Amino acid sequence: MRVLAIESSCDETAVAILSGEGVVLTLESNLVRSQIDIHQAYGGVVPEVAAREHLAYLFPMIRQALVEARINDNEIDAIAVTAGPGLAPALRVGVEAAKALAWAWHKPLVPVCHLEGHIYASWLETSNPPQFPALALIVSGGHTELVFMKSHGDFVRLGETIDDAAGEAFDKVAKMLGLPYPGGPQVEQLAKLGDPSAFNFPRALLDKPNLDFSFAGLKTSVLYKLRENEASLDNAKFRSDIAASFQEAVIHVLIKKTARAIAEHSPKSIILAGGVAANLSLRHSFQALGATHQVAVHVPPFAYAVDNAGMIAAAGYYRALANNFVDPLVLSANPNLDIV
Ligand code: KG4
Ligand code: ZN
Repeated sequence: MRVLAIESSCDETAVAILSGEGVVLTLESNLVRSQIDIHQAYGGVVPEVAAREHLAYLFPMIRQALVEARINDNEIDAIAVTAGPGLAPALRVGVEAAKALAWAWHKPLVPVCHLEGHIYASWLETSNPPQFPALALIVSGGHTELVFMKSHGDFVRLGETIDDAAGEAFDKVAKMLGLPYPGGPQVEQLAKLGDPSAFNFPRALLDKPNLDFSFAGLKTSVLYKLRENEASLDNAKFRSDIAASFQEAVIHVLIKKTARAIAEHSPKSIILAGGVAANLSLRHSFQALGATHQVAVHVPPFAYAVDNAGMIAAAGYYRALANNFVDPLVLSANPNLDIV
């Protein structure tokens, strides 16, 4: 089965063509156009600007993907699209384009939850996909949650953040340090030069017997530390120590809660998903966690961890196998769509 997928939930316009044979999922084309340069001037993503850019580039990218995959539209079996969550004006461009194509080309249409897509990045281009039951740690700009999967499309949320998402905390701390958007990769670079034990930032909810997260207190604690040390704000060592200690606190909590979920639910595989999965220290800690608990670890390659349409195609492929189609005339973008 061949799936064409569209992703436009935030500031990446993405199109992929995936060919699936059983469990072997091959990307025949995987195009991503980032708008970061445009949004940087505003210090964050401006939804209407994102939508305008998606509109300008989506159809040329669909044409380019077909050329790259060396196929015609009649060789596509299904169209998958991110239906949410995300920025409403941005999502709408992808969803309306997918509806139009499904209708004009007479193809079945598969709506995909963006978070489900992040999890399915671990099924892409591998001969060794996750085994069920699987436990996924989703860490993105808008979400931080632990999700248990008994089979394809069967998700149970075990815990989630009660305030900020992990990626959001990275972005906010970056802003406090005067670093440009998106802050996660910038904080990671700075942290590489710092001492993770320089400051003992709070690790929230670790004493609570649940699988929820909280990062708002940590963010505030970093803010107070910066205010207390205003004279050192330009000091390279101080800045990198702040970044390293903040990153250490985030990763510590993510790993401890995932360890608790492993102990309680005995998964065969653990999956790291979402944009923050691009963070090298988190990737290493997650690998080490799997080794300690003797579960298989799935950490997607960098290009599939950040937003892309390949992951939407992978989730769409399994949804298409289960005939989870919708009528193109009734689908609408849902900025608050949830995985469960
Ligand atoms: O999944 P994603 O690309 O978009 C959403 O679905 O939200 O995640 C974006 C988030 C941003 O908050 C960004 O700062 C964070 O992922 N991020 C990182 C790194 N790369 C991206 N956070 C920490 N370290 C990174 N290397
Ligand atoms: Zn994402």
